[in-house]
Amino acid sequence: MTGFAKDFPILEQKVYGKQLVYLDNAATTQKPNSVIDTISDFYRTDYSNIHRGVHYLSERSSERYEEARKKISDFIGARNPGEVTFTAGTTDSINQVARSLEPSLKGNEVLVTGVEHHSNIVPWQMAGAKPRAIEMDEDCNLLLDSIDITKKTKLIAISHVSNVLGSVNDIKKITEIAKDHDVPVLVDAAQSIQHLPLDVKDIGCDFLAASGHKMYASTGVGVLYTSDRFSDLMPAKGGGGMVDKVSLEKTTYQEPPLRYEAGTPHIAGAISMGAAIDYMQKIGLDKIEKHESDVYSYARDRLLEMDNVTVYGNTDRMCGSISFNMDQIHHYDAGLIMDKMGVAVRTGHHCAQPLMKSFAIEGTVRASFALYNTKEDVDRLIEGIEKVEMMYT
Ligand SMILES: Cc1ncc(COP(=O)(O)O)c(C=O)c1O
Repeated sequence: MTGFAKDFPILEQKVYGKQLVYLDNAATTQKPNSVIDTISDFYRTDYSNIHRGVHYLSERSSERYEEARKKISDFIGARNPGEVTFTAGTTDSINQVARSLEPSLKGNEVLVTGVEHHSNIVPWQMAGAKPRAIEMDEDCNLLLDSIDITKKTKLIAISHVSNVLGSVNDIKKITEIAKDHDVPVLVDAAQSIQHLPLDVKDIGCDFLAASGHKMYASTGVGVLYTSDRFSDLMPAKGGGGMVDKVSLEKTTYQEPPLRYEAGTPHIAGAISMGAAIDYMQKIGLDKIEKHESDVYSYARDRLLEMDNVTVYGNTDRMCGSISFNMDQIHHYDAGLIMDKMGVAVRTGHHCAQPLMKSFAIEGTVRASFALYNTKEDVDRLIEGIEKVEMMYT
C-alpha cells in the first residue's frame, strides 16, 4: 500500500485474488487506523454514559464527547459548539429539522434541486410540504438567476455535492439569494464535508447536515449544525438528557445543543468523528482537496475518452462521485463484472430517483472517491470497464 491507503487496513486485502480498489466512498468511507484505535481505546479506557454521572469514567466520557463536539464545531466554522448537535446521520439531521419546522412547512413548499438524495426529499413531504426543484441546464448546473422564491417557500434545502454526479452547488450564492427573501437554508453536506473545506459562517446557512461514516468515522452518528438564530426550535425528539424540569403538567428544555439530543447518544461514534477530523487535519484539508481533485479529473478525462461510455453531469465544479453507463450494458451487470475484477463500485439509482427520471434511465454505475484513491485505482476502473465491454461484444 502506498500513499494514504496505508493508513486504512481494510484496503490491504485482495478480493477474488485481485488487490481491492474501493470506489464506493459516496456510500461509505473506510476507516483509518487512528479512528479504529480511538474507538477501541475509548471502550477499553474511558467508556461510560455521559453528562449524568458524578463518577470518574462518566466525567472522562463527557469530556471526550464534548471535545469531539468542539472539533466538529471548529471544523465547520460554527460560532460555538452549542450550534452542533450530534444526530444519527444526515438522514436523521434532516428529519429532525423537518419535524421542528413542520408547523411552518405544512401546506407550503421547500425549494430543492433535481439532484437530491431521497433523504432531502421525503422528510419534507412527510412534514406536509411540497419539494420544488430549482431549474438546471442540461449539464446539471443550477440556474440560480431564475430561482423563483414565492410566499410559499419556507425553506431552501440543498445538497452541497450530488452523491450521483459529483456536481458542486454554489451554496453561498443560494444563501445570499435566500437572505433577500428571509428564507432559511439547509445544506446537505453528506457528500462535501469529506472533500471540501466548510465554513458555515461564510456560507451563511441556517442548518447543515452530515454523516460520520462518510468522513472516515463510525456509522450511526452525524451532525446537525443549527445557527444560533434558531436556538429555540421545538426539539424533534423528547426524552432524557434534553430537559431542564419535567412534571406531568409541563416540561422545560435545556439550552442547545442538549435540548436537541434526547436519550443516550452514540458516544463512541461522536468521538470517532473527532478522531476522523484529527486524521484529515493532520494530512491537511488543502492537500486532500488537491489530491482528490487530481484523481477525480483524471478519472473524468479517462471516462470521457471512452466511446461506449456516457458520463452524466458536467458542472462548473465537481468532486467525489462520477456516474456513467455503458452502451447496451445494464449497470448492474457492469458492476458485477467489475467486482470480480476487484473494483468495488455501486450501481442503481443511488437514492436519487427524480434525477434518474430526468435522464430517463433506471440507474448508473457510480465510482466515488476518497483521499486514499489514486490514479492507479482509476486505471483499474478503466480496465474493469474494458473487461465488461469485451465480455459483451
Ligand atoms: C447527498 C446525500 N444526502 C443524504 C444522504 C443520507 O446519508 P445517511 O444515509 O448517512 O443518513 C446521503 C447518503 O448517501 C447522501 O449522499
